[in-house]
Amino acid sequence: MNTIGVIGSGLMGNGIAHVSALAGYDVILSDIEMARAEAARATIQKNLARMVAKGSVTEADADAALARIRLTTDNADHAAADLVIEAATENEGVKARIFQSLSLAPHALLASNTSSISITRLASTTDRPDRFCGLHFFNPVPLMALVEIIPGLATSEDTKAKMHEFARRLGKTAIEAADSPAFIVNRVLCPMLNEAIFALGEGVGSVTDIDTGLKLGANHPMGPLTLADFVGLDTLLSIMQVMQAATGDPKYRPAPLLVKYVEAGWTGKKSGRGFYDYSGPEPVPTR
Ligand code: CAA
Ligand code: NAD
Repeated sequence: MNTIGVIGSGLMGNGIAHVSALAGYDVILSDIEMARAEAARATIQKNLARMVAKGSVTEADADAALARIRLTTDNADHAAADLVIEAATENEGVKARIFQSLSLAPHALLASNTSSISITRLASTTDRPDRFCGLHFFNPVPLMALVEIIPGLATSEDTKAKMHEFARRLGKTAIEAADSPAFIVNRVLCPMLNEAIFALGEGVGSVTDIDTGLKLGANHPMGPLTLADFVGLDTLLSIMQVMQAATGDPKYRPAPLLVKYVEAGWTGKKSGRGFYDYSGPEPVPTR
């Protein structure tokens, strides 16, 4: 494999492009507007510079990685890729429409970075269910060591083996998860984040007290409300909705306050406001 296509240049797409380019792959990064892809490249440049400053990457390697990333808004450009990773908005219809718009090379593998949606069902909307797999990265991709590999019902052994090989070349640790709603990590993590939002909505604690509680009382690196903002409240809501719809289990119902925040457009750090306001030099709790 030489060339990786990444579709969607948001929080995850820019991180996947970053680590792929740093591992020596040529990268084609696409989004619906060139301005979004250009913003992603600026983010990658900033994050590579942090790694240079910390001494984990040389300046020459960072420059070479950035030069390997080509931006586009035309999905036809992904025909040059050996592996295409879809990292667009967590919405099944959006993903299915993207897959239907692709004309990939016959040998190319196709993966989805979905957080929760059925890999088997997504695969069935493509022209290559045997060469389709879930490949779930964690945010922020350059710092998080894990990748979940989720084979769908039709995923071939060869495709799965190539996903493992790719994860290894990126320096990530891979685990395999069954194609069950939200897989392993989000199955456990997202209900915890949702529960923290229930607790906030019920007045059990303030934003600061809930976050401090989990940071100091459970040694979490970020409090759950900070982490929910970091993931994106729209993405967290979609994950909870997928889990609730797929299982029918009311324990996965989204917290009403989560729904309200997304309705208000307060989708967390990426929009400048969620459970914290990010407009100043330091995040300020909003409740
Ligand atoms: N590339 C990208 N982002 C970087 C970076 C790099 N090289 N270096 C730092 N960052 C980002 C951080 O996200 C954060 O953002 P801002 O400064 O821009 O506000 C900042 O840089 C923090 O920098 P630090 O140097 O202080 O980083 P740190 O060493 O304290 O570690 C962390 C930060 C690794 C993110 C840590 O806080 C952590 O582990 N948090 C929990 C992350 C987590 O749980 N992620 C999983 C989310 S769930 C998911 O991803 C799955 C899903 O489907 C929803
Ligand atoms: P995001 O909102 O930051 O970015 C999504 C990007 O997809 C946007 O730039 C949007 O313009 C683009 N997009 C939408 N429709 C498109 C189309 N038709 N063609 C090309 N691009 C399109 O979202 P994100 O957090 O990067 O999430 C992307 C995927 O990764 C989702 O499936 C999400 O569940 C998953 N994921 C998210 C996280 C997280 O912590 N945020 C972690 C792991 C996996």
